[in-house]
Amino acid sequence: MATSNPSQSVHVFITGVSAGIGRALAETMLTAGHKVSGVARRRHLLKDMEDRWPNFLGIPADITDAEAMTAAITAAEMRFGAINQAILNAGVYEPQTDLQIDPAQFRQQMDINYMGQVHALAALLPGMEQRHNGHIVIMASVAGWRGLPLAASYAPTKAASIALAESLRFFCHQKGIKMQVACPGFVKTEATAKNTFAMPMIMTPEDAANALIKGMRSQRFLISFPFRFQLMMKILRLIPYRWYFWLTGRMTGYQQ
Ligand SMILES: NC(=O)c1ccc[n+]([C@@H]2O[C@H](COP(=O)([O-])OP(=O)(O)OC[C@H]3O[C@@H](n4cnc5c(N)ncnc54)[C@H](OP(=O)(O)O)[C@@H]3O)[C@@H](O)[C@H]2O)c1
Repeated sequence: MATSNPSQSVHVFITGVSAGIGRALAETMLTAGHKVSGVARRRHLLKDMEDRWPNFLGIPADITDAEAMTAAITAAEMRFGAINQAILNAGVYEPQTDLQIDPAQFRQQMDINYMGQVHALAALLPGMEQRHNGHIVIMASVAGWRGLPLAASYAPTKAASIALAESLRFFCHQKGIKMQVACPGFVKTEATAKNTFAMPMIMTPEDAANALIKGMRSQRFLISFPFRFQLMMKILRLIPYRWYFWLTGRMTGYQQ
C-alpha cells in the first residue's frame, strides 16, 4: 500500500486551496517542504499564495467543470511531476432553514461538493493506477453520517462523498492507491460563519489541517476529529431513530 514518508518531499494537490481548511492544509504542507498545487475560483487569493510560496501553484478553475479539472491536473503535473497525494476538499455549505426547497441550491451543492470530487478522481486515478501509487483523501463531514437540522441540502452531498470513498476504496486498495475519507466536526471558516448557533468544540483551520495530516499518516480509512465530537456523533449514528431524533432535537433546539 502506498504511503508517503512524511520527511520526504511530495507533490500534494488540493481542491479548494484558496481559503479555510484547504488553505491551512496547503500552508502546513508547504512549511513542511512539500510542493503544493491546487484549484479554487478566486484568482487574487491564489496569486497571493503564489507570491508568498515558491513551491505553490494555484490554478484558477471551477471544480464543476470536468474539462477544467483535467486541464488543472495536467498543468499541476507538468510543473511539479506526478501527484502523490490529492485532498479533494473544495466544498460549499448553505444552511436549509425552513421548508422552502430551492432545487437549484441543492443541485449546486451536489455539483460542487460531490461531482467536483468525481471530476478530480476521473483525472487523477488513471495516472495513480498506472504508477500503482498514490494517496487520495475525500473530504466529507460528520454531517454525512445522519440527517441534521439545517443540513437538508448539505448533508446528502457529504453522505454521497462517504459512499463514494467507501466504494472506490476496494479497487484503490488492489491498485496500490491509499483512499481515505475525512469527516471533521466544526471548523471556523467562511463556510461556518453562516451558522448563527453555537458550534460545539469548533477548531481553527490550522488545528484541523494538523489533525487531517496526522490522520493521513495513519492506516485508518476514516479521519475524523476532534476526538470527543466525532465520538459523540458516532454514538448518535448508531442509536435507533426514535432516540436519535429526540436527543439531537434536544441538543440543537429542534425538540421533537
Ligand atoms: N468548516 C467546517 O466546519 C467543515 C466541517 C466538515 C467538513 N467541511 C468540509 O471541508 C471542506 C472545506 O470547507 P471550509 O470550511 O474550509 O470552506 P471554505 O472556507 O468556504 O473554503 C471552501 C474552499 O472551496 C473552494 N471552492 C468552493 N467552490 C468551488 C468551486 N466551484 N470550484 C473550485 N473551488 C471551489 C473555495 O474557493 P473559491 O471560493 O476561491 O473558489 C475555498 O477555497 C468542504 O468540503 C466542507 O464541506 C467543513
